[in-house]
Amino acid sequence: MTFREYLTQQQQRIDAELERLVPKEATPPETIHRAMRYSLFAGGKRIRPILCLEAARVISPQAAGVEAAACALEMVHTYSLIHDDLPALDNDDLRRGKPTCHKVFGEAMAILAGDALLTLAFRVLSELEGVDAGRRAQMVYELAAAAGTPGGMIAGQVWDLEGEGKTPSAELLERIHRAKTGALLKASVRIGAICAGANAEDLEALSRYGGHVGLAFQIVDDLLDVEATPEQLGKTPGKDAAQHKITFPAVYGLEESRRMAEREASQAEAALERFGERAARLRELARLIVDRSA
Ligand code: IPE
Ligand code: IPE
Ligand code: MG
Ligand code: MG
Ligand code: MG
Repeated sequence: MTFREYLTQQQQRIDAELERLVPKEATPPETIHRAMRYSLFAGGKRIRPILCLEAARVISPQAAGVEAAACALEMVHTYSLIHDDLPALDNDDLRRGKPTCHKVFGEAMAILAGDALLTLAFRVLSELEGVDAGRRAQMVYELAAAAGTPGGMIAGQVWDLEGEGKTPSAELLERIHRAKTGALLKASVRIGAICAGANAEDLEALSRYGGHVGLAFQIVDDLLDVEATPEQLGKTPGKDAAQHKITFPAVYGLEESRRMAEREASQAEAALERFGERAARLRELARLIVDRSA
């Protein structure tokens, strides 16, 4: 199977599971379920759930519950996008090639759709079938820590917003990116590994991989904001400069940022050494994260 075919197959696997886990549009209150599904099924790349599935596969070929766990990550990610786009945050009109959730459903419903996706994610993890209670609790902890404060996504979003217009420093830049994006990507890998019953050494190696791909991912997001078109991205480019965000290109310039993303990807690949050929797909995913054009 080519890597492209593999990606399509994994995306379909995730979409089928999301379809099962998220209340149907006809379930009352209908509006919120329409809003949640509108954003979830608008066409994301599904990078986080794919990392989760693949990290699990490296540990064990058939980890029970891993599809649902992967979907919990996509729910938290989609909620973060809905809220990130709100007028009070980045104020974006376009997401995943469509009008943003608040443009279609209004701000109140977009806030609530985000809240509902976030809470559903934890419900899903708490009910994972075939995973013992200790492991489920560990996965809930990982997701909560990665999504929240002080070191997770919300902390990163706060530093990102408070950083607007501030003189960027290398230290603040890395802190923002590791928290706002890196933490959830790293948690995606860790949650997959934990679900599959990884031992401490394997979990540690996969965490290092996740840390490097997490940082690389946001460096490339910053680069694409400068270099890509709206058609390619499905979101409005040029927003970071317009909002005076602290980004890699703003601090290091385009060429050095590109080199830094490459370096992170190489370090991610190096962290996989102990897994040999079993980690071939994770290596390809690290390459995809730096070579992507959307
Ligand atoms: C965009 O994430 C937001 C960031 C955290 C950088 P993705 O680029 O993974 O967005 P989708 O899920 O494919 O829409
Ligand atoms: C998003 O960072 C981080 C999130 C937690 C959603 P950005 O604000 O750069 O993401 P995009 O570029 O709008 O997707
Ligand atoms: Mg933002
Ligand atoms: Mg944004
Ligand atoms: Mg961005």
